[in-house]
Formats: sequence, structure tokens, C-alpha cells
Amino acid sequence: GAPVEVDITGMAPGEMKTVEWRGKPVWILKRSPEMVASLKKTDSAVADPESKRTPDALTPEYARNEHRSIKPEYLIAVGICSHLGCSPTSKFAEGAQPNLPDNWAGGFLCPCHGSTFDLAGRVFKNKPAPDNLEVPRHMYLSENKLIIG
Ligand code: FES
Repeated sequence: GAPVEVDITGMAPGEMKTVEWRGKPVWILKRSPEMVASLKKTDSAVADPESKRTPDALTPEYARNEHRSIKPEYLIAVGICSHLGCSPTSKFAEGAQPNLPDNWAGGFLCPCHGSTFDLAGRVFKNKPAPDNLEVPRHMYLSENKLIIG
């Protein structure tokens, strides 16, 4: 499939958009400063905080860090669970929700077998999903232009 160009001009903090690339949904989440800060707190609760053991195909070199991205405020991830391929739903809501980790700052919940991911697509410990969500190859063409693939 051809690379997909995405214009991210004017995205508000906390806003997420989904584009299609190679028939897969790719999420672009603009993390607010609070969302970026929450990643520090989930470091110890996720299975592979810096994507060191996540396969190369799922995490390019420039995303092997706490925020799993080039710029801390933007998460670019494939919205397909690394377990059996269901589509996790985004959970940015405040307050307690059943079956979600303590101090849940938001992230993604897979409806099929309950894997949870933080706001960097990092899988929480002891979940059926073996790996973090895939970060597709991407780069910034300019401040507000992104190319995926
Ligand atoms: Fe997501 Fe099984 S497919 S937890």
C-alpha cells in the first residue's frame, strides 16, 4: 500500500483521529500535557515500558522510548490488538471504570479478552496481548504534516 499523508493542523489536546493505511486503522492521538505526564505513572505497570522486547516490526527505532513516538505529544499507532486482532476502544474518560487499572489516566481497552493499553499503546502487565500496539513507520514532512508508511 501507498504511504498516507495526514494533516494534523489544529488538532486539540486529547483529540484523536483515525486514518486508514494498508486496510488498517491508524490512530493519531494528540496527547495533552496531562496525558504525556501520565506515562511516567504507568511505566511500572506496563509490560515493556520502552518497547525493548516488542518486535522490530511493531516498533521502529525512533519509537523505542517511554512515549513510543517521535514527538511526545503525538501517538501514532495501529488500532489493532497484538493478541488476536480485535479493535481496542479508546478510554479517555475520567473517574473509575470497572475492570480498568487503578489510577487509570486513559488508554485503550480491547473488548475481546480485556487487554488494556496506556496512552502510548503500551500493554499493561498480565494481559493476554503479548506486545505493545504497533507503531507504523512514519515521519513528519513539516510541523503539521505527517506521512505514514
Ligand atoms: Fe485483544 Fe484478545 S484480541 S485481548
